[in-house]
Amino acid sequence: MVEISTSLLNANDENIIKTIYDLEVAKTDYFHIDVMDGKFVKNNTSERMRRYTESIKSVSNIPLDVHLMVNNVEEYVKDYIDMGGNCITFHIEACKSEMEVLKQISYIKQNNCKVGIAINPKTAIEKVYEYLPYIHKVLIMTVEPGNGGQELLTETLNKIAELNKFIYENGYEVDIQVDGGINEKNAKQVIEAGTNIIVAGSYIINSEDFGKAIKNVKNN
Ligand code: DX5
Ligand code: ZN
Repeated sequence: MVEISTSLLNANDENIIKTIYDLEVAKTDYFHIDVMDGKFVKNNTSERMRRYTESIKSVSNIPLDVHLMVNNVEEYVKDYIDMGGNCITFHIEACKSEMEVLKQISYIKQNNCKVGIAINPKTAIEKVYEYLPYIHKVLIMTVEPGNGGQELLTETLNKIAELNKFIYENGYEVDIQVDGGINEKNAKQVIEAGTNIIVAGSYIINSEDFGKAIKNVKNN
């Protein structure tokens, strides 16, 4: 059964505590924390996502699925480990060398946190292959990072099946997570291609009934 990680990027800041509570009742599997530094992407959500993380940690046991869209990976990895992140995913495009990627992977794992690598729509899926033995998940961006509420980029879909095939052929145990523009209409397609974890933001947050929206995505 696919898991759902609800993005809080487009949540209404005024009633974030109620949103967090309602998402817990609706049984989201994770809270997806979209951390943006205003450099890797134009948007800067650092302060808001720090606040959301602290709020969630104070009222909920649902795991934090942290998505770092930042240039200074090391700085934010340390912050989110300190704040109790359960899985930290950073962008391969923010790392200058393989050594840096491997260094972040081992640092995150040494701190009892799961680790993921995210790739942008234009980045070839093969770029993550050498890291698969060491990571827990690959986050395939199905939109350009930086904003919620975008349309899924259909040219990213073939990456899911390609990665799924490579993982199977090599016997790796790595989850495939997709992020951006997912709703009840396209969930079936990404699940059939091999997705294990779906990030959904606006489809869930803008719905009347979070539980129903989550079920609509899950039951495909
Ligand atoms: C975009 C973020 C996504 C986005 C998902 O940079 O990484 O997590 O918020 O939101 P929707 O589901 O609205 O595309
Ligand atoms: Zn995200």
